[in-house]
Amino acid sequence: MLKARITGTGAALPDKILTNADLERMVDTSDEWITIRTGIKERRIASDGEFTSTLSVGAARSALEMSGVAADELDLIILGTVTPDFPFPATACIVQQELGAVNAAAFDISAACSGFVYGLSIAEKYIQTGAARNILVIGAEVLSRIVDWTDRNTCILFGDGAGAAIVQASQDEAGLLSTHIFSNGSYWNTLYQPGCGSRNPATKQSTIDERLFFIKMEGNDVFKHAVRAMEEAACAALTANNMTPSDISLFIPHQANRRIIDATTKRLGVPSDKVFLNLHHYGNTSSASIPITLDEANRAGRLKSGDIILLTAFGGGFSYGSALIRW
Ligand code: COA
Repeated sequence: MLKARITGTGAALPDKILTNADLERMVDTSDEWITIRTGIKERRIASDGEFTSTLSVGAARSALEMSGVAADELDLIILGTVTPDFPFPATACIVQQELGAVNAAAFDISAACSGFVYGLSIAEKYIQTGAARNILVIGAEVLSRIVDWTDRNTCILFGDGAGAAIVQASQDEAGLLSTHIFSNGSYWNTLYQPGCGSRNPATKQSTIDERLFFIKMEGNDVFKHAVRAMEEAACAALTANNMTPSDISLFIPHQANRRIIDATTKRLGVPSDKVFLNLHHYGNTSSASIPITLDEANRAGRLKSGDIILLTAFGGGFSYGSALIRW
């Protein structure tokens, strides 16, 4: 069967840095509290001229350049985001136009922080069935536009950015070994944006006065489920491939919170030197976190030919999943 192989990665991050010290001046919090509870020290914030599409295009151009694929050779563009440029059309269509990817069908998927792993899973199926050969998968967010900057429970967590991967059909041993995606809708209202959809359409009262435009989160519930779900997704990947945690060369979990990652890796039995972290610099960038981290690890030379790379994601929905890759 054809393998889906990642042949290029890329990332784009806004220049503007918001530190914990900056947040101390905005809400009742401290660098010490944020660092101990989350591991985050700073995050990137989009400037006025930056949107989900512009960051996506930046990440995509880097990934295309690394892979040597021309934009017009792309068959498909899949973009995971919960902060599209507009509710419609799909931000992926804006990216298609900007890249000149005239032969690609383009669509967005809404799987919150699992958006990139969901996208990889879709790409894998298109390639295995022969329906596409060159696919651009993007995770991109401008969460700063839907963060309530008066809510200290959430505003300390999130950041903006985009990451991308080119996934190509290959006959090699290397490539995606498996993807697994899961949902648990029992907790849909534990982490969500209540306003501006069909249930709470935009009005002055709902959008502005009741602040329904902004992210709402039950942090403790999310924490507990994130650890269990990422462990379940990781075990599904290992079991499907007859592997154990000792086979993993590098573990790239969704960069939500240092304590969630530590608890997950402890339960899995993955040593800390095999875990790639960058959340101290970028915070939680939702669907962008895994592809940004994958690109950073790739460009740092941490992904060697034949390495087994495990990606695990968790996010609102709840949505979660894993991808196991032979690099
Ligand atoms: N600064 C200082 N104090 C804060 C604070 C902040 N930024 N945010 C909350 N607090 C306070 C709370 O008000 C509470 O005070 P109280 O005891 O007087 O009521 C206290 O700190 C403890 O709050 P709690 O919510 O129990 O803290 P926690 O240990 O659960 O940590 C999170 C909060 C948000 C860091 C943690 O729940 C978490 O990481 N959850 C997962 C979030 C996540 O990753 N979401 C995305 C998933 S994809």
